[in-house]
Amino acid sequence: MMGGEGGLRSFHTRKEFDEARCENLIRRFHFHTGDINVDSFRKLRERVAALDEKFGAQGNVLFYFAMAPRFFGPLCNALYEAGFQEGPGWRRIIVEKPFGTDLESARALNVDILKHWHENQIYRIDHYLGKETVQNLLAFRFSNGMFEPLWNRSHVDNIQFNVCEMVDVQGRGGYYDHSGVLRDMIQNHMFQMLAYLCMEPPASFEADSIRNEKAKLLQSVRIYTPDEVAINAVRGQYGPHHNGGGEVEKPGYRQEKDVDPKSSTETFAALKLLIDNWRWQGVPIYLRSGKALWKRSTEIVVTFKKAPEQIFRGTAVDELEPNRLVFHIQPYQGIELKFQAKVPGPTVELQNVDMKFSYGDAFKASRYTGYEVMVYACTRGDATLFSRGDLVEAAWKVAQPILDYWSANPVGSEFPNYMRGTWGPPTASDLIERDGRSWFEVVTPDVLERLPLFKGAEPLLLNSVIMALRPTTAAPGETVISIDDAANQMYLIARGEAQIIDRAGKVMETLHDGDFFGEVGLLLCTARTATVRAKTQCDFFVLEKDEFSRILREHPQFAETLRKFANERYDIAVSCEELMSPS
Ligand code: BG6
Repeated sequence: MMGGEGGLRSFHTRKEFDEARCENLIRRFHFHTGDINVDSFRKLRERVAALDEKFGAQGNVLFYFAMAPRFFGPLCNALYEAGFQEGPGWRRIIVEKPFGTDLESARALNVDILKHWHENQIYRIDHYLGKETVQNLLAFRFSNGMFEPLWNRSHVDNIQFNVCEMVDVQGRGGYYDHSGVLRDMIQNHMFQMLAYLCMEPPASFEADSIRNEKAKLLQSVRIYTPDEVAINAVRGQYGPHHNGGGEVEKPGYRQEKDVDPKSSTETFAALKLLIDNWRWQGVPIYLRSGKALWKRSTEIVVTFKKAPEQIFRGTAVDELEPNRLVFHIQPYQGIELKFQAKVPGPTVELQNVDMKFSYGDAFKASRYTGYEVMVYACTRGDATLFSRGDLVEAAWKVAQPILDYWSANPVGSEFPNYMRGTWGPPTASDLIERDGRSWFEVVTPDVLERLPLFKGAEPLLLNSVIMALRPTTAAPGETVISIDDAANQMYLIARGEAQIIDRAGKVMETLHDGDFFGEVGLLLCTARTATVRAKTQCDFFVLEKDEFSRILREHPQFAETLRKFANERYDIAVSCEELMSPS
């Protein structure tokens, strides 16, 4: 009983905790234990009948199956045999994910469950659909007329779904080692978001109207052959985190409790999918998710086709950026439209800017957690947010060839292939860069503030830098900049180690997370004075020369910080005027 209350207290998302309501709810909790067999379920039925009489629930019963999928069939059977179908009121069953472990088991489960129960009594849950930001995808698409004409292959270049988690398997190794990220996150949560974002407009907001369109969309996703899986899907597994002294501070996946030390289970995956329908033919859909990554954030990035560049010929503008619509699902919740604007001044220069909507600023209402939204919807008999059997099967059909290919080709010594706290395996970048695109990394001010250079920086500066940064990676041993080359970028090390090497090939210094390099050439307008090589796998943020100069001009305090760093690190005297004069 106390556990229930403690849990409510720590996980509630209301602005204020309502003591009286909590009390009232807790008083209605009753526990009854038993095995999954007809006898114990008959006893449960008697108990439920007694409680019904006491509380006047009119015979309504909601069952919640939060167990391993292999118990769902026997549970449905035992409930039926015990006579739970009889009597007044409604009976509804919430079935937790994973709904099966592959296409065949999902089909078998549907048959088992529907033997005694009707489809409209079954509520297959996916808590992502209870998130306001996910529900808003439909509201946003179908209540704002200006986007619909653009929502197709003529205007959209690509769509990225990104679910980054910082947490590892959190002691759930026993479950996770038989699951992996494809089953745990992609086949359900991410495919649900994909369906919402790409489906056709439903005839109404009725549950079946929406679910018909979602199912149709998932049925249009191309089912890959093994050769296509090899090209369009990459997997990863995290390795340990070492401290400065080289000791293991946090274990790699294979060292986690209840995980096979030779496990091939993927804790990261990136996919390129194609939707074979009129609207989306040819538009690549990239999905990426993993555990133990550098940040926790879920976002969807719709990148539109670029405007033609030729009218900017002869101006300072080299290249145009595409417009992007970013749906921030969590933890930051909002929507952002990215575009370019002219920098005030006599010449034509462009700067990336954005229009932002943030839930926190726009709405006063308390947030609800995904699960409470779902349970409430089920008590009202609203199945909109729950998956129908055909939808679940359509999602497994897309995932199945990938699962088959991966189990036929287990990885051995290639895993682990990314370290904890990084952006994932380099192969994920290769997957998208092959198409001449890159993952759009959403950088938030707190990520930037982790770097000493930006600690305590004012929001306007952080925002300018965020809009200008481009992520890139380097493999161990890769040369990032070469001595005597023209200086065109400054690099910030998000993670990894890089060595500064002099003309004679001697390592002068090793740089770590949070350090930066490449700024001297930009500051002094000289060629590179040293070579920099990645010692380990490195994740960088890059600031191009023109953006760098513009930010310096607009933020004198940043110029001052850089000047100090340059004076201390390289013993070179740089004046602020020099830094801030246009390049
Ligand atoms: C669950 C997965 O369904 O979703 C977990 O089993 C994952 O592995 C979790 O961490 C993520 O949910 P959320 O709401 O924190 O994004």
